[in-house]
Amino acid sequence: MLRSTFQTLSKRTFSSTSINPYKVAVLGASGGIGQPLSLLLKLNHNVTDLRLYDLRNAKGVATDLSHIPTNSTVKGFAPDQQQPDALRDTIKDSDLILIPAGVPRKPGMTRDDLFNINAGIVHDLAQTIAKEAPNSSILVISNPVNSTVPIVAEVLKEHNVYNPKKLFGVTTLDLIRSSRFLSEILKTDPTKEHVNVIGGHSGITIIPILSQLENCSTLSQEQKNELIHRIQFGGDEVVKAKDGAGSATLSMAYAGATFADAVMRGLNDEKNVVMSSFVDSPLFKNEGIDFFASKVTLGPNGVEKIHEFGKLNQHENEMLETCKETLKKNIEKGYTFVKNKK
Ligand code: NAI
Repeated sequence: MLRSTFQTLSKRTFSSTSINPYKVAVLGASGGIGQPLSLLLKLNHNVTDLRLYDLRNAKGVATDLSHIPTNSTVKGFAPDQQQPDALRDTIKDSDLILIPAGVPRKPGMTRDDLFNINAGIVHDLAQTIAKEAPNSSILVISNPVNSTVPIVAEVLKEHNVYNPKKLFGVTTLDLIRSSRFLSEILKTDPTKEHVNVIGGHSGITIIPILSQLENCSTLSQEQKNELIHRIQFGGDEVVKAKDGAGSATLSMAYAGATFADAVMRGLNDEKNVVMSSFVDSPLFKNEGIDFFASKVTLGPNGVEKIHEFGKLNQHENEMLETCKETLKKNIEKGYTFVKNKK
């Protein structure tokens, strides 16, 4: 699944055939993720109108990217006196809006520690999206994704424009890390390793289902435990290595561009576009968990189908129970934030 997405991304990136014109906005475009993400979107021939918004330097980033000879226009928008309606102008009529705006983690922080700042940023951006681009596909990258996605949903509901099929929490980084880390152990081609990762997007809510992979049966339980832990806490490796200078940006930009490409291919009615994402999901609604990450089929209207995740072994079932407890609290935290804003 991932391999075909990677191949399609690179094929389309460097080919000028089968162009589909999509307007794409990046909010938080000057940041560590925003800049490389915007670069990768500039290279995607399906993106014909790229709009970059940030509180700082968006015009600089846009001008820089605009010199790349691909078939899109790039404009930068910043909320200053010259562009008082910069956010509105950025997102108006967008097909896709990617949101990496916010602050990243520093060593010792969990994604949940970012809540207080990022919740407010995402909430305010969602207000304008609700008014100006309610039909767009919204891809939330800002952490904690387990809470920021419910925040966007609640804001859209307040404006009566919530479309659960078009709101996505971007969890693709968990998939690409799984492919990479597993291939390092098995000494295989990472583009051929596809792990089904479900749950949420933070620590113990990330559940890689190794029991469904034939080639994992050769691994000892200790190796599996280490691999699961590395997938769940892979982000910490980057935070630690960057030593205060932020969290994953380049791998995240790649993950975000990969997911955006899949959403566009779905919108373009390409068949069998399947990716995992944290979406409004029926899987555990009866337990009060409104959002859950699993494989989804993407289509012209966004999420076409939410896949069941199949059989889990006993350890994975235990992980799922712990995940659900945390996820419920994370989602509730997002809801409460929006309620208290009223
Ligand atoms: P960064 O600090 O380098 O960039 C964030 C950008 O957002 C800055 O340029 C800042 O000016 C901008 N910004 C802040 N408030 C804004 C607003 N109201 N409107 C528009 N722009 C605004 O941070 P980085 O490393 O790019 O990370 C961004 C977010 O992505 C963080 O919340 C981080 O935790 C999250 N993240 C998510 C991942 C995922 O897998 N979903 C993986 C890695 C990071």
